[in-house]
Amino acid sequence: MKILAIETSCDETALSVIEASGGFRAPQIKIIAQVVSSQVSIHAPWGGVVPNLAKREHEKNLVPLLAQILKTKSLRFNFFKTRNDSKHLTEVEKILAKEPDLLREFLKNIPHIKPPKIDVIAVTQGPGLEPALWTGINFAKALALVWQKPLVPINHMEGHIFSSIIPKASSHQTQKLEGIKFPAIALLVSGGHTELILVKNWLHYKLIGRTRDDAVGEAFDKVARILELPYPGGPQISELATSAIETSNTDHYPLDPRHHSLPRPMLHSGDFDFSFSGLKTAVLYLVKKLGKLDKKQKAQIAKEFQDAVVEVITTKTLSAMEKYHAKTLLVGGGVIANTALRQSLIDASKDAPWSLSIPDLMLTGDNSVMIALATYFRLLDRRNKKTSKNNFGAVGNLSLTS
Ligand code: KG4
Ligand code: ZN
Repeated sequence: MKILAIETSCDETALSVIEASGGFRAPQIKIIAQVVSSQVSIHAPWGGVVPNLAKREHEKNLVPLLAQILKTKSLRFNFFKTRNDSKHLTEVEKILAKEPDLLREFLKNIPHIKPPKIDVIAVTQGPGLEPALWTGINFAKALALVWQKPLVPINHMEGHIFSSIIPKASSHQTQKLEGIKFPAIALLVSGGHTELILVKNWLHYKLIGRTRDDAVGEAFDKVARILELPYPGGPQISELATSAIETSNTDHYPLDPRHHSLPRPMLHSGDFDFSFSGLKTAVLYLVKKLGKLDKKQKAQIAKEFQDAVVEVITTKTLSAMEKYHAKTLLVGGGVIANTALRQSLIDASKDAPWSLSIPDLMLTGDNSVMIALATYFRLLDRRNKKTSKNNFGAVGNLSLTS
């Protein structure tokens, strides 16, 4: 089955086409084409993602990126010289009424493109920024109408879960997906989520723990701001923390460790919840106390913060694995790009009675290959039900578990 997937939940415009096969027993994926266009430079001056700017960028990017991926040979891209007048274009004008830039691009280009060889179109429904989500959804609805393809709404977090079982993001060969043995635990760590989910079987989820305040990625971003590092903060903290590790053998250590040891929030709370807001405030107080910081001090604080986060997340995840006798640990979300967290989970799983699935670095951040793969499993599950559903809208706080 060939799936075209569209992801616009935040500040990445992502499109892909995959071919998936094998069913639940022996799933395989072939990534035919994929593209991710990041808006980091647009949002950087604002210190965070501005929803309406994100929407505007998605509007500009979607049609050119679609044309780009459709040029892949096996999709038989064909640009008609003459316009293929579609009877659906009046309806398209209605669907894209709130995205005038996108509508213009759509009407200029899409009627000239021969419908590609795909079976279904998928789009992220939520969670995410609603103005950004709507742009992708309306685009997908218009395309589904003009090309007469079924349309499937997908939960972004389910995408992050399945990103972990794709061996190689850069391969265009057919690849066997990593096996999942149930029960499994999914650890989701992103800019908006920190969750531990019990995966009882394919597509059956139960939330067992979550953050009570800030998501872990949000905490990384806020601490980066406190340390006056540029946006986006997560990768900056990660890089600085690594430089602190590298210089830790030198005899000059800028801070007295007794004075800046940061807390490990909720480490012994006895449940699977997290809290990162207090940790962020502890960093703020420390920085206020120290006054002007040099680069070494910043690196030391970044490392301390990262150590605290990694310790809490690893400890809680391991106790969830033990409590539920889980056989697979699935990890997903932007924060799993963090080298220290990756390594900690890899080390903890080395001689453990479970296997670890962790995404290729190219698939940790938002992408649409993960959305396409989730679509495949959703469609397998709905084999006997109606697959196409066009009367849905964006849901900013869409949940996987309720
Ligand atoms: O999954 P994602 O790309 O978007 C959401 O769905 O939220 O996650 C983005 C988050 C941001 O908070 C970003 O700072 C964080 O992931 N992040 C990192 C690293 N790379 C990205 N956090 C820590 N270390 C990293 N290397
Ligand atoms: Zn995400």
